[in-house]
Amino acid sequence: MNNVLKLNSISSLAIKTLGTNYTVTDDCSNPQAVLVRSAVMQDWDVPSSLLCVARAGAGVNNIPFEDYATKGIIVFNTPGANANAVKELVVASLIMASRNLIAGAKWAQRLVGDDVKKQVEKGKSQFAGTEISGKTIGILGLGAIGRKVATAADALGMKVVGYDPFVCEAAKALDFVTIYDTMEEVFATSDYITIHIPYSKATHHFINADSIAKMKDGVIIINAARGELVSTDSIKSGIEEKKVRCYVTDFPDADCLNYDGIIALPHLGASSAEAEENCAEMAAQEIKLFVEEGTIKNSVNMPNITVAKNKAHRASVIFSGEIAINVTAEVTNKAGISYAIIESDSVIDADALEKTAGVIKARNIF
Ligand code: MLT
Repeated sequence: MNNVLKLNSISSLAIKTLGTNYTVTDDCSNPQAVLVRSAVMQDWDVPSSLLCVARAGAGVNNIPFEDYATKGIIVFNTPGANANAVKELVVASLIMASRNLIAGAKWAQRLVGDDVKKQVEKGKSQFAGTEISGKTIGILGLGAIGRKVATAADALGMKVVGYDPFVCEAAKALDFVTIYDTMEEVFATSDYITIHIPYSKATHHFINADSIAKMKDGVIIINAARGELVSTDSIKSGIEEKKVRCYVTDFPDADCLNYDGIIALPHLGASSAEAEENCAEMAAQEIKLFVEEGTIKNSVNMPNITVAKNKAHRASVIFSGEIAINVTAEVTNKAGISYAIIESDSVIDADALEKTAGVIKARNIF
């Protein structure tokens, strides 16, 4: 029996997908796997039993995944599983911001008296907006979410430009997207900018006073990625100077609240029933494949590896540097840490392997 520790509430589809060989609880001192959504794991005490962590979502800034690789722990995410939900939130944000829907709705809710209809007609002009059709949207990050946003924006009659430092073939295949070589070109040409890049030290506050200065006057900025990508102070200055027309953030801190020109949403991007199920199912499958076969799929700290079953016995070993393995082995590695699936006709002594210099973790799989 394998123990799975749930650090957040996650769709019960995860338990169903894992099946009867797994016990899933939210209190366990010796888990083989962790299922997590947004719980911050930076200060979490890692138990020695832990083999893998699966994040039900795309962003992994709540998990110290590089450090976990050095501890022999594989970290997975669920790319694309919630992309449609986030895309829909971005489409809603484009329209909410352009048509002043939040401010207008708040105003209408406060109307009193028998002549509400009259007040509505008299007061509505203060919320008149603009249309998105014909405008240019700049998409920063053309991964699973960015590409879906691009397709939706195109269908809504927008011109689509984008930038991605690691642009993939699937993005290049979207012939209606102008992909620029620099972010600056996106800033200079876009009426709307939507952010779909991961948060890391390198991307901290990359939307700041300098980048905002390069944008078009009256730009609308949408952040459904992570709060720390954007400097709220710079956004507020941009709003005061009328450079920024609206900032929609799905990751508000206190500074974003009750501020004209900022629409603060409570991290709803991936909060749809469908996305929660997709993420839970994909995360559970990743755990199962890893625990039962040693397969790695969608890891953020180790490349993919799948090995067809050729022999009766299989073990996996995670190591740094070089070790001598004198049985059939397939190896993958990242940032100085290697992962090997080894097979043999006879039983493999994983305990002895674990004592080899350089080995971080070894286990028998079957
Ligand atoms: C993500 O990173 O995909 C989302 O933040 C997931 C979530 O809402 O938990």
